[in-house]
Amino acid sequence: MQGKADHNYDYTLMAPGPVNLHPKVREILSEPMIHHRTPEFDKILAQALKRLKFVFQTAEPVYMISSTGSGGMESLLVNTLSPGDTILAVNSGKFGERWIEMAKTFGVHVDELKITWGDAVSADVISEKLKTKAYHAILTQACETSTGVLHPIQKIGEIVKAYPGTLLLVDAITALGAVPLPMDEWHIDGLVGGSQKAFMLPTGMSFVSFSKKAQATFANSKIPKFYLDIKKEIAANSKGETFFSSNVTLTKALNFVLAEVEKQGLDSLFKSIQRRADFTAEMIQLLELKSYAKVKSASLTAVVVPEFIDGQKLRELIESEFNLTLMGGQDQAKGKIVRIGHMGYILDEHLHQLATALYRSLEKMGYKPATAFEAYTQRLIDWLKTH
Ligand SMILES: Cc1ncc(COP(=O)(O)O)c(C=O)c1O
Repeated sequence: MQGKADHNYDYTLMAPGPVNLHPKVREILSEPMIHHRTPEFDKILAQALKRLKFVFQTAEPVYMISSTGSGGMESLLVNTLSPGDTILAVNSGKFGERWIEMAKTFGVHVDELKITWGDAVSADVISEKLKTKAYHAILTQACETSTGVLHPIQKIGEIVKAYPGTLLLVDAITALGAVPLPMDEWHIDGLVGGSQKAFMLPTGMSFVSFSKKAQATFANSKIPKFYLDIKKEIAANSKGETFFSSNVTLTKALNFVLAEVEKQGLDSLFKSIQRRADFTAEMIQLLELKSYAKVKSASLTAVVVPEFIDGQKLRELIESEFNLTLMGGQDQAKGKIVRIGHMGYILDEHLHQLATALYRSLEKMGYKPATAFEAYTQRLIDWLKTH
């Protein structure tokens, strides 16, 4: 921010996943390969599986799947549901839409709860729906990444727990590890996280866990499955192995990240992500811009760009001139927003880079904030010093 030539910035990834990697993770990723059937790896696997429970805040086992987050979402469905079952699914953006499509593919009947993009679902509406019909499951994102919205999972959990035949399945791919989401305490029955988000790893792993209520459905679930059959994984994990070849490299990196999280404490991790979200809120206020999400998740901020600016072009300019990758909007939000991720290895110098890049790029595209660049910069430097 201070006198640095724009093109001198190191490349920074501030998308809502994938995210900047910790330098030690990069080091681990380049270590020589070891086999997954070795005492060295057995120890790492056992530690990682145990530590995952700490992030999920559950007494139940957590399973690793070598797939992107969507594989974990599929695992929640195929292990608990049967064709012909009826579910209620929140559709508040791109990822809700996709999970619904997935459920329908398996012959599950879906009642969609369509939410205006940028809004959060009302727990009361879910409560009313449950009174009128028996649902095998409620599906929702914790954070809908396409809009930046955080849904009221705790409240929904309180409601769903009263229905013995209904599971609460939560896609927390952009929420787990970024915002509080204690699985057991909030009565979540199926929870999925993804490696490329708050776990600060490359894409390619998902993590799932099931409550006792969900585990009771495994035996009766009739959706055909092979790779994602959790019963195979449970049997293998009980012998200290994974059923298929283990994702050795990512597991090693995961174990490092989880050990760091354990040392730092979950609350401290949440606070550091919240601080970046708060910094971004301060920054966009100075720029006289607004958040797209009415109820914001700390994991990302979707910023509404000025009407005459194309958000995609703004994003491209920031990338080409400031070596910084943000994400644009999808579908109906395309061109209207840029999405800034707050997860991953982000230092204050990256926040400086973000602030400069956004101001200067907006300026270049014809937007003039009332606060001059120097005053804006000083305000944000002061903010970082005092928060
Ligand atoms: C909320 C949410 N659900 C699902 C996904 C899909 O995950 P993946 O692309 O890893 O399969 C994403 C990815 O960004 C996400 O943010």
